[in-house]
Amino acid sequence: MPTSTWSGPTLGTEPTRLSLKAQSFTESVIREMTRLNLELNGPERAVNFAQGFPDFNTDDRILDAAAKALRDGYNQYATTWGAPQLRKAVARKQSAAWGRDVDPDTEVTVSCGATEAMIAAMLAAVDPGEEVIIFEPFYENYGPDCVISGAVPRYVTLRAPDWSFETDELRRAFNVKTRAIVINTPHNPTGKVYSQAELELIAQLCIEHDVIAITDEIYEHLVYRGRHISLATLHGMQERTITISGASKTYSVTGWRVGWLTAPPALTAGIRKVHDFLTVGAAHPLQIAISSALELPSSFYVELLGDYQERRDAIVTGLRECGFEVEAPDGAYYVMAGFASLGYGDDVAFARHLIEKAAVATVPASSFYHDPSLGRGHIRFSFPKRIETIERGLDALRRLPID
Ligand SMILES: Cc1ncc(COP(=O)(O)O)c(C=O)c1O
Repeated sequence: MPTSTWSGPTLGTEPTRLSLKAQSFTESVIREMTRLNLELNGPERAVNFAQGFPDFNTDDRILDAAAKALRDGYNQYATTWGAPQLRKAVARKQSAAWGRDVDPDTEVTVSCGATEAMIAAMLAAVDPGEEVIIFEPFYENYGPDCVISGAVPRYVTLRAPDWSFETDELRRAFNVKTRAIVINTPHNPTGKVYSQAELELIAQLCIEHDVIAITDEIYEHLVYRGRHISLATLHGMQERTITISGASKTYSVTGWRVGWLTAPPALTAGIRKVHDFLTVGAAHPLQIAISSALELPSSFYVELLGDYQERRDAIVTGLRECGFEVEAPDGAYYVMAGFASLGYGDDVAFARHLIEKAAVATVPASSFYHDPSLGRGHIRFSFPKRIETIERGLDALRRLPID
């Protein structure tokens, strides 16, 4: 377009000026805490309870499958919406879990992690100005996802100690502008696992207001109490739900960037177009490796859960001994810890204090709320760590000078 015909707003002439969208969100607090801890304490001393990635090894069977895929020549672009092997494996898994046939050709799209899946879903389904309901505290990507896609977030609060929401508050959030609701179960950062009754209410409101649901089920295999329910399996929801999951957490491969979406064919067609222009596709050999990971026997998942349960119990017990107020999470791998009795008022100052005095990185909970004051009383610990790491972090906290 010739510049002489431009009649839009003049937003400054600085060549390094950022777009209004990029200006409207900040760097991830989680990465900031991790970096600060490493800078101040070095990699030998720093304990990272901030970022949700494992410090233990990936299962050898999965690593061998990746090495084999590289050698077998899966080194060029895969089909943009996912290698057929992986889409078939995802469809088989979802079909078994949901009790209906999921079609790998029309309902499944492979993405670069659940992260890309969420932004692709919003860009494909939500128009600028439409509202998206988000429960807070929230996984910190959802806010920027709304900004990037032009959606307007509308927040509903989950309240401690059980992280339930008020039915009336949720009802009031639905209005003529609502296009979608995001449900993350099991939930980061609280560990909440949405109950059948809660999901039924959400489904009823979605149907009543003709709203779609976008679910983030990345922790689907980490449920310690209750059971994981996919919203898509509830009556009337299959045709209006985009279900997101991925390999990062279940197979301890957060660096591989392989995720997937299951959605009705019409939404899938839109998601695939957006995904193609966003990223073209996830790494081909790693898609092949994950297609074989999806065939691992049920013993893999039993062991995974048992190991996480041990880590959860260790951190919950240790944090309670240190004086934190902690409810054992029902799912995922995070604990929200209240610290009122430790005499610190501000979550950001307290998280910094823990880095400076104990070399322990956590996340101030205010970063999980649109109104930071709602999170001032909590910090989040993530525990996909070896028991030795958890104990080392707890020892440092036990020795902590509080002031
Ligand atoms: C709720 C939630 N969704 C998505 C992700 C990212 O998933 P992926 O690695 O597949 O992009 C995370 C990672 O912490 C998460 O907690």
